[in-house]
Amino acid sequence: MSKQLHYALDGQSYTDPAVYELEKSKVFYRTWQFAMHESALSAAGDFKVFSVCDQSMFCIKNADGSIRTFHNVCMHRAHQLVAGTGNRKVLTCPYHAWSYELDGHLRRAPNQDKVAGFDASKIGLSEVRTEVMLGFVFVNLDYQAAPMADWYPELEAELGAFVPQIRELAPMRWVSVDEACNWKVTVENYSECYHCRLNHKTFVEGVVDPNTYNILPQGHCLRHTTRAVNLDRLSYKIDAQANPFATSYSAWFLWPSFSFQVYPGNVLNTYQWLPKAVDQTKAVRGWYSLGGEDSTLLNVLAEQDLETTVAEDVALVESVQRGLRSLGYRPGPLILDVDTGVNSEHSIKALHDWRTEDLERA
Ligand code: FES
Ligand SMILES: [Fe+2]
Repeated sequence: MSKQLHYALDGQSYTDPAVYELEKSKVFYRTWQFAMHESALSAAGDFKVFSVCDQSMFCIKNADGSIRTFHNVCMHRAHQLVAGTGNRKVLTCPYHAWSYELDGHLRRAPNQDKVAGFDASKIGLSEVRTEVMLGFVFVNLDYQAAPMADWYPELEAELGAFVPQIRELAPMRWVSVDEACNWKVTVENYSECYHCRLNHKTFVEGVVDPNTYNILPQGHCLRHTTRAVNLDRLSYKIDAQANPFATSYSAWFLWPSFSFQVYPGNVLNTYQWLPKAVDQTKAVRGWYSLGGEDSTLLNVLAEQDLETTVAEDVALVESVQRGLRSLGYRPGPLILDVDTGVNSEHSIKALHDWRTEDLERA
């Protein structure tokens, strides 16, 4: 047993707007963030807007098939360039019609020839670092950031093995839930299963075997592993012989706010936690099927998940947020079991360490 106790964070870390502002710039604008699935952009010129906290950006498909991401702002006088989704051959700003090529270069500004010294070649949209992994588009607002493979070692190889059909998948359904809590409350809740036995009956009886649940750091990823429950107790039918991971349950939580989950049957689903305010977070669940085709199984799983695990967690995290505002709260020591496992909170310590690392970066 380690002699040094590690404590939960204090209430202010979850309730103070100044802390939240600091986390936006030091954590969310310096780490890899899920933007969209590449199937949202099929033809050259297709674009889609998304945001990370209060930074609006858009991904756009270029003629060479590459996906680029730009801040959604015109370099003239800051009107937003695009909204929603669409297709453009040229990106023309709705304010004064400055036009940009799909690679971000300024094509021309009306009346530019009358301005001595105006050099269109020196003006272009601000590009955002982008990586596409197995069809999932991630961005990092820090252009100098280390690649995803450094942050999340083994992720691509493991996910490709656990979901052999991943390249043919597309989002079938998105389910969003607003949670009245700080983003760390819900991410911490997701990252430990110390609360599972008491609070997630369907999950521990119908999906996983809680005795074998473990969550271990792997780079800046938390790897959730467990054996699935006896297949006859699984709430749906699978072909256990289909491939080596057909009966596995596994998850890869990517610091700070995204997770890939694989359920038995190689069923892929994702979680993303979008901070909206110091005490407001949107949790978005994604369910993926072949080509995005409607699937009865996935609809049943998405509903079951929403009514059980998600609803159970919302009640927990919102109660915690209220508790964090209590003048009587003194943070308790984390349960750091030297053997890790389902009743340990070593994964919470990893989250705290990564946060400290980000906040202390120059
Ligand atoms: S702000 Fe875009 S053209 Fe003026
Ligand atoms: Fe939970």
